[in-house]
Amino acid sequence: MSKTITILGGKDKTGRPEPIDSLQIESGQIYSIVGFTGSGKSQLISDIEQMAQRDTITERKILINGQSPDYSTRYDPDVKIVAHLSQNMNFTLEMGVKDFLHLHGECRGIKKSDSLIGEVMEYANTLAGEPVREDDILTSLSGGQSRALMIADIATISNSPIILIDEVENAGIDRRKAMDLLAGKGKIVLLVTHDPLLALMGDRRIVMQNGGMNQILTLTDEERKAEYLLEGFTEKILTAQNRIRCGESLSVEDLIYIQEESLC
Ligand SMILES: Nc1ncnc2c1ncn2[C@@H]1O[C@H](COP(=O)(O)OP(=O)(O)O)[C@@H](O)[C@H]1O
Ligand SMILES: [Mg+2]
Repeated sequence: MSKTITILGGKDKTGRPEPIDSLQIESGQIYSIVGFTGSGKSQLISDIEQMAQRDTITERKILINGQSPDYSTRYDPDVKIVAHLSQNMNFTLEMGVKDFLHLHGECRGIKKSDSLIGEVMEYANTLAGEPVREDDILTSLSGGQSRALMIADIATISNSPIILIDEVENAGIDRRKAMDLLAGKGKIVLLVTHDPLLALMGDRRIVMQNGGMNQILTLTDEERKAEYLLEGFTEKILTAQNRIRCGESLSVEDLIYIQEESLC
């Protein structure tokens, strides 16, 4: 189901028109949303989730495929074109993973969900650090496993074409793979983040300021190189984290960074 969303600008916190007055996002694109705390990132996500029609505090208007969404698109929970993954999401259901996926498949009108369930499990296990099994009880999953399962489920069983992700920094999943999986399935992914590495995973980024969309930046070649270096830093931090967790001591050598010549 291919979709575009258009965000028509409203007002910033001072009541002035926000600098970006129209932004169209296509199926398969990843946008990150960046800005200081209080700059309006979550509000933008919320406007999209509610499909605001000049009726929220920002007065933005959201179009789906160039049109105002009709009543059922906006309010019918079965239609659900926007899926929102938030930071503190966890399952509260005492149910096995497989049974849950079956049930979810049924709710979505999928008759034979066995092969899809296999696909969800496979994806979840490429994203999560610790394996997720079909017989695991949902409430026993860790934060990382839960999020991996939700993302795999969104990519496969849910047909929501728009995915909003608000700050999943330390979720314990392979975030790059998660983004690639969702974008590869033709989803629109909007990702709020303070993490520079995650911000650079977007094709473009929306810079929020004072409640308004202030700039739209496209990832440059220079930034792709910077991203490569940042990945190296991040790995170093993870190494340090692991060493410390294991009760080992850190050496300066562990943290000396990749040489310039390894830059491609
Ligand atoms: N354009 C705006 N006009 C008025 N209030 C806004 C606007 N954008 C955001 N706000 C409000 O400002 C506060 C902080 O915004 P929020 O989206 O939570 O920031 P962030 O997620 O970047 O930390 C919230 O109460 C939000 O509703
Ligand atoms: Mg926020």
